[in-house]
Amino acid sequence: MLNWRFIAVVAMVATDMVAATQAQSSRKPQSPVSLKDAYRNAFLIGVAINSPQIKGQDMGGDAIVERQFNSITPENVLKWEVVHPEPDVYNFDLSDQYVSFGEKRHMFVVGHCLVWHSQTPAWVFRDDKGDSLDRDALLKRMHDHIQTVVGRYKGRIQAWDVVNEALNENGTMRQSPWQKIIGDDYVEKAFQYAHEADPQAKLVYNDYNLENDQKRKGALVLITKLKAEGVPVDAVGLQGHDSMDWPSLEDEDTTIGAFASLGVKVIISELDIDLLPPATEHATADVSVHVEQDPKLNPYPKGLPESVQKELGKRYSDLFKVFLKHRGAVIRVTFWGLSDGDSWRNDWPVLGRTSYPLLFDRSDQPKLAFHAVLEAAGGKN
Ligand code: G3I
Repeated sequence: MLNWRFIAVVAMVATDMVAATQAQSSRKPQSPVSLKDAYRNAFLIGVAINSPQIKGQDMGGDAIVERQFNSITPENVLKWEVVHPEPDVYNFDLSDQYVSFGEKRHMFVVGHCLVWHSQTPAWVFRDDKGDSLDRDALLKRMHDHIQTVVGRYKGRIQAWDVVNEALNENGTMRQSPWQKIIGDDYVEKAFQYAHEADPQAKLVYNDYNLENDQKRKGALVLITKLKAEGVPVDAVGLQGHDSMDWPSLEDEDTTIGAFASLGVKVIISELDIDLLPPATEHATADVSVHVEQDPKLNPYPKGLPESVQKELGKRYSDLFKVFLKHRGAVIRVTFWGLSDGDSWRNDWPVLGRTSYPLLFDRSDQPKLAFHAVLEAAGGKN
């Protein structure tokens, strides 16, 4: 069977070789050939990788990851349900391969994620009889999990998303099982445990929709409190599950500036841009939301018109110009998946849509948006 990813990479390398030869012969400076090089002096460029990519079952995809990116995040394999599916069972098979993948390629390796309400098995919150754990027992369980997972990769995973999505849309604390059983201070405990397990690792609070006023205010209060208490929080992850008109560039700018002014770094941690018709009334990345299939919600099953490709490129370019304005505060931009075919957006919030949120198409060809992001780096790096 033809391996389209492999063919795509060979084609890209060939194109770059031709470009390099032309540049040499005309003695013009060579234009940047990869995302990571274009942004080398601004911030890291990362990508979330999936199980086939980690296992080497998508060699074409892996070659693009290696060529274009200098940081990786595991899309799923370090989540609690995968790595710690039962009370006394840890499964490090895939996560070990994930960390080796990054080390072999000298990449900045991210861990995602330690404490979240989703993809955490129900047993975590119950005792042997099925009753709810008390605060001390759940804190012990959280401590042991963090100690075991972070401890295993001490010095090898450079940054951890410690707490994921602790806030409601109105900025109050989400009533997750963690919050209900332990109380609001589960957040600081998680950061303290992660710091104990690996004092060198950079620790991140990660959430979506922080560009919205109320939720941003809640996050600013939370981070201010953590910092005042001496809790080791190094950065805020703005997930960046964006659409064509949300967030506004002004809101993105304000949000990055607001967190930077608290003395934490900012990471765009899960970037993708949804151009399909909105299936929910308000922008969200809440994985529990499901919407019925409807052809009106899936307008491009056979391919994306050139005009829409251009709009996507413009949107990516505009956002990257905001990120670049905040270089120094923004330390990494990570895409949530490699190619359109890999994206969670194809099955959320509507199953089976044909989505186009990333920089590489379903045959792993760089899209117009890829070139727009490269060009946005300009000559300023
Ligand atoms: O592993 C099973 C597999 O055994 C089974 O055959 C298959 C059938 O559907 O499902 C597989 O699990 C899926 C898993 O991804 C791995 O592919 C789950 O159904 C699916 O729900 C899960 O979705 C992930 C989602 O988090 C779940 O919470 C997405 O891939 C992942 O991109 C998404 O990532 C989250 C971030 O962690 C946090 N921020 C929001 C972001 C997007 O939702």
